[in-house]
Amino acid sequence: MIIQSDLMKAVEILRKGGLIALPTETVYGLGADASNPEALLKIFTVKQRPIDHPLIVHLADIEQLPEWVSEIPDFAMQLGLALWPGPMTLIFKKAPHVSDLITGKQDTIAVRVPAHPIAEALLRAFGGGVAAPSANLFGRLSPTTAAAVREELGDQVDFILDGGQCEVGVESTIIDVSRGYPVILRPGMITAHQIESILNEEIITALRKNSPRVSGSMASHYAPRTKMRLMKSLVIPHFLNELRHKDLPIAILTYSMCPLPQDDVEWIMMPNNPLSYAHDLYQTLRDLDKRDFREIIIETPPEDSSWDAIRDRLVRASHKE
Ligand code: TXA
Ligand code: MG
Repeated sequence: MIIQSDLMKAVEILRKGGLIALPTETVYGLGADASNPEALLKIFTVKQRPIDHPLIVHLADIEQLPEWVSEIPDFAMQLGLALWPGPMTLIFKKAPHVSDLITGKQDTIAVRVPAHPIAEALLRAFGGGVAAPSANLFGRLSPTTAAAVREELGDQVDFILDGGQCEVGVESTIIDVSRGYPVILRPGMITAHQIESILNEEIITALRKNSPRVSGSMASHYAPRTKMRLMKSLVIPHFLNELRHKDLPIAILTYSMCPLPQDDVEWIMMPNNPLSYAHDLYQTLRDLDKRDFREIIIETPPEDSSWDAIRDRLVRASHKE
């Protein structure tokens, strides 16, 4: 349901240089007018985000692309036409007017046309681009509900549009199209396989090391406060056997195992398909993070490429020894 007066209020705030939180199909975003540098600065302050981390500009329609980018390669147009509105971000060579705050002083810009009825209606009513990183504090779990945004940012955001729980649940697939060929910078629920079948060519996935250019590629990111550890299914029974009183309580997230009941061990059965798993993941971690577990153990997800985005987020959220 879209409440017209809420939409108008959000547009007003954007026009005045304020911050709103908006639902998208992936996660909630913290939005500001992409052509207002003062408004953009507020995003960095509120998120406590380093100033050189570039932002994604959200548009209502692919037809607005030429206002923000200077070159649109044919294969990028093909991707945009096939997958937008949807959970995909493309990185283009930027148009000359685009603020350094959006690009992190690079010559490229990230753009996305989101597929959430409220985001679409808002972007249409606003007319311009809305820069929106995920609406969480830097390095933390992205919010997938309006309540989670409130927890993360409180009254530092002028208005939160409530669009229910996000359908996809993890951040968009980021594809760099500025180099003449496509490169996946961040896996998402639009998979390499899907992109390959649209373009009819193989796609490269860039190794995500400690690059500030894609903030999710910092070694530690998307993280709950509770220590989190990935563990193969085979090892979990042995691990449980060896647990000592001081290690408890713990939570275990599995998708394939039957619970082995034990005091102070909370089993969470996650869905065993990647779409539903992604949908539930951040909210589950956020809920567990509020309880006093010593550790959250996560059953290592399958190797299959349809789990790439989930594996990527879990590895980044895990404790580094
Ligand atoms: O699903 C999503 O993408 C969500 C929703 C709100 O749209 N947004 C999101 O934004 O995840 P954020 O800022 O949390 O992550 C966007 C990533 C950042 O890590 C940033 O470094 C990268 O996109 N990025 C933005 N512009 C870039 C550029 N020009 N080159 C390389 N990476 C870029
Ligand atoms: Mg983020």
